[in-house]
Amino acid sequence: MPSIPRRNFVQTALIGGAALLARRGEALVAPSVGRSGRALLADSHIEVLLDEPIGTIAPELYGHFTEHLGGVIYDGVWVGEGSRVPNIGGIRKALVDAMHAIKPSVVRWPGGCFADSYDWRDGVGPRAQRPVRTNFWAGDDGLKSVVGGPAKYDPNEFGTTEFLRFCRLIGAQPYLAANVRTLPAAAFNQWLEYCNSPAGTTSWSNVRAAAGDREPYQVRYWGVGNEAWGCGGNFTPEEYAEEYRRFVTWSVPQFDVDLAFIASGPNGGDVEWTRRLLTALAARGSLDRMWGLSMHHYCSAPDAGADAVAFDERGWYDLLTSADRMEAIVGSIWEVVRQADRQRRIKLVVDEWGAWHKNAPIVDPSHLFESQSTIRDALVTGLTLDIFHRHADKIAMANVAQLINCIHSLFFSHEDKFVVTPAYHVFAMYAAHQGAQSVRTVVSAPRVSWAAADGKPRDFWGLNGSCSRRGREVTLTVTNPSFSEPRETEVVIRGGAIGTARVTTLAAGNVHDVNSFERPNTVQPSTVEISARDVRGVFRFPPASVTKLAITLAG
Ligand code: AHR
Repeated sequence: MPSIPRRNFVQTALIGGAALLARRGEALVAPSVGRSGRALLADSHIEVLLDEPIGTIAPELYGHFTEHLGGVIYDGVWVGEGSRVPNIGGIRKALVDAMHAIKPSVVRWPGGCFADSYDWRDGVGPRAQRPVRTNFWAGDDGLKSVVGGPAKYDPNEFGTTEFLRFCRLIGAQPYLAANVRTLPAAAFNQWLEYCNSPAGTTSWSNVRAAAGDREPYQVRYWGVGNEAWGCGGNFTPEEYAEEYRRFVTWSVPQFDVDLAFIASGPNGGDVEWTRRLLTALAARGSLDRMWGLSMHHYCSAPDAGADAVAFDERGWYDLLTSADRMEAIVGSIWEVVRQADRQRRIKLVVDEWGAWHKNAPIVDPSHLFESQSTIRDALVTGLTLDIFHRHADKIAMANVAQLINCIHSLFFSHEDKFVVTPAYHVFAMYAAHQGAQSVRTVVSAPRVSWAAADGKPRDFWGLNGSCSRRGREVTLTVTNPSFSEPRETEVVIRGGAIGTARVTTLAAGNVHDVNSFERPNTVQPSTVEISARDVRGVFRFPPASVTKLAITLAG
């Protein structure tokens, strides 16, 4: 399929008397004004309603997920203390450095499906004495060509203490997923002891202290199983409710931590499963022991669109449409929660989301479910985070799957090589939303359309986004899903006026471009400052782009 030269659009980014010049790779979004100072050609409109708050954007919406799966932990996060790869106590230094820019709030570990076959006791104590165990994913077809190694046989070098140190290094909170399928509740209690009991109080606290960590980890977030309807035990909702009750009732040691239990929720938007689960939990008096209900949604495109890089226009829109289903899923699951939870305590935890393409590993056969990341994945990232902001009153945490070398990767690494993906750049651009007040934003734009596989026309919104406010600082993020059309857009702030704007745009020279170890900066954002003198309130969003407007209100 033909590639789309983005430069064509850049050249026409300015109209009339605007002061900025558009050079290649710069000024992708710029004020479009006529000599009269009036907006020209705006076919789209964004209205930010500062006086209509939705809720605070929980920093935990910017969470991550690291599973013992393929190249995520070994070759991704963990390189080992003796490695020639620069590391901090065995943890890849380049990863730690890159994480700081995106302000990671929370990291989920050790799975995923892996969690429900993991015995945390294998991963503590002196490293040299830890057992090697068969990884949950060892039998996956994708690892057929792999003979040995940590993706199949976990050496347990990376365990609870190593994970907690990783969290500490990047400034994130830990979110641990307990094994409900193959371990009893007693083992869960002991894991709590290992993490949270003060040194000298329990035997497990002494094992932790002997590893060098006298201070308790104070882990707050605990997942009770994972995908209970599938790899987490193939439970019916009622069976899982019974297990959940066993794990969280009464005797769970608290150690002065406000424990937040997260129940395994439905597969995608399975409303019936959710209803049955919440009914069964209510009958067992366990609803008030739930902080969050987990849900997962992976997007994908069928046929030719399934390839991570060589997709066509249909694959482009199919994937975005699939990602956009998140909004309907959140809405329908929330409705069930709302009906069951009269006290309005329980929130949604989207602890796995991202684009899952059908692809072979990029750099090493052990990197199961690894696939490339293009500007299409960046749009999935932007539109999904915008959905979370628009539902900041319902969602308490979200974890993109997964951090490195797997599915919706923010990074790729192999041995001493390391690169950030377009999806990573969106996390960096959007970080300013964390902790700010989400405000209602009304977007109107011509819908985009394409022909589906059956030849029938399909369409999709033409522009969407979200906005948050922190004092005089307003962050407006916008995705333009059009494969080929820019959007001239009038941006109006009700309850304030734009003083200055710093506009950061992520677009690609070609929608198939990727960042590789050899060419790490092929897809990266560019920023322009718009001074008070130049602000006219009309912005151009290039095709296939994600944009952040960091606005300082006038006055
Ligand atoms: O993220 C990969 C896998 O997808 C997880 O282990 C599982 O929870 C989900 O099905």
